[in-house]
Amino acid sequence: MTTTPVAPRTLDELSDLVTPYAVRIAATLRLADHMAAGHTKVEALAEASGCRLRPLAAILEYLSRRGVFTRVSAQQYGLNAEAERLRDDHPGGLRFRLDLTEVGSHVETAHLGYVGFARRDATAGSAYEAHYGTDLWTALAGDPVLAASWDRFMSGVTRIAADQVVTRFDWTRRAHLLDVGGGSGTLLRAVLTAHPHLTGTLVEIDPAATAARDALRENGLDARGNVAEQSFFDALPDHGDVCLLAQVLHDWDDADAVRILRRCAEAAGPDGRVLVVERLPHLDAGRLQASWMDLRMLMLFGGGERTEEQYRALITEAGMALHLTQVVSAGALGGDMVLLECSVRA
Ligand SMILES: C[S@@+](CC[C@H](N)C(=O)[O-])C[C@H]1O[C@@H](n2cnc3c(N)ncnc32)[C@H](O)[C@@H]1O
Repeated sequence: MTTTPVAPRTLDELSDLVTPYAVRIAATLRLADHMAAGHTKVEALAEASGCRLRPLAAILEYLSRRGVFTRVSAQQYGLNAEAERLRDDHPGGLRFRLDLTEVGSHVETAHLGYVGFARRDATAGSAYEAHYGTDLWTALAGDPVLAASWDRFMSGVTRIAADQVVTRFDWTRRAHLLDVGGGSGTLLRAVLTAHPHLTGTLVEIDPAATAARDALRENGLDARGNVAEQSFFDALPDHGDVCLLAQVLHDWDDADAVRILRRCAEAAGPDGRVLVVERLPHLDAGRLQASWMDLRMLMLFGGGERTEEQYRALITEAGMALHLTQVVSAGALGGDMVLLECSVRA
């Protein structure tokens, strides 16, 4: 097996935490937005961001030396291409992901539990659990602000593939969609809106179940879409002839992933279809990013990224056959988002 060479970096560079935190501080203080509004002098920026001069000046000085922001003088800084990416309305959505008060930083902090999770005698199922003492889903249920932030983050990721999920599958011959672990319903709403003959049920636990119910109502889809508040490890509502599992399986280890797939197969029935949306890692040039994503899923959930062959093995173990793989979003985070179409009658 060959591995793609990675540009050598010194350990000092690789282990420095000052730089990533400085970028996050700038993102949290919305410095790029304040500059875009004309506040380029440190005093004006301090006023706009509600900061004291000395700590603000130190961040700007350091980041400008790092290539983020231009330095006019010690009293004035400006935007450059990298700093533009920290504007809140930049399409990349980076500012939100780096904001220290949002869910992105909350989950990054779980790395502190990795050593405890990695130890041979560990009982925690993930680094997140080792650090916070609970899994992410339980934490979201107890913290509405964090839950809203997670929902914003997840909906942004899911929207990327939604249009393709709506068009790539032949929905005409199906009547009822079960969106299993459907979050706040981004995909279910997209499918129901595009295919008026369909009805749907979203299977979720709280707080996503409540958010999904509210969103269906707000979008006028509550006559055709409802929410079953329950775990997907229990028997699912049995009136769906197509089940969607989007970005769920990579949160779980193989044994749990097979249990979830079996529940979907039971619910879809012998002539049903199970649709799995996941990211397949590129095993050549994308190897570095693919292992980044794998590490992240392991750290957060005790899950991981899988290849098409690994998904095929799980699908087969759950009594189904994988008969079509289509790319729904190419080249994101070291892999392609794909739609895996599985028939229940293997
Ligand atoms: C990564 S999110 C994916 C959400 C959605 N499918 C999407 O693509 O945007 C995983 C979802 O699984 C849900 N979940 C976790 N454990 C669950 C369980 N035991 N039963 C039902 N849903 C669960 C979470 O609440 C979360 O919304």
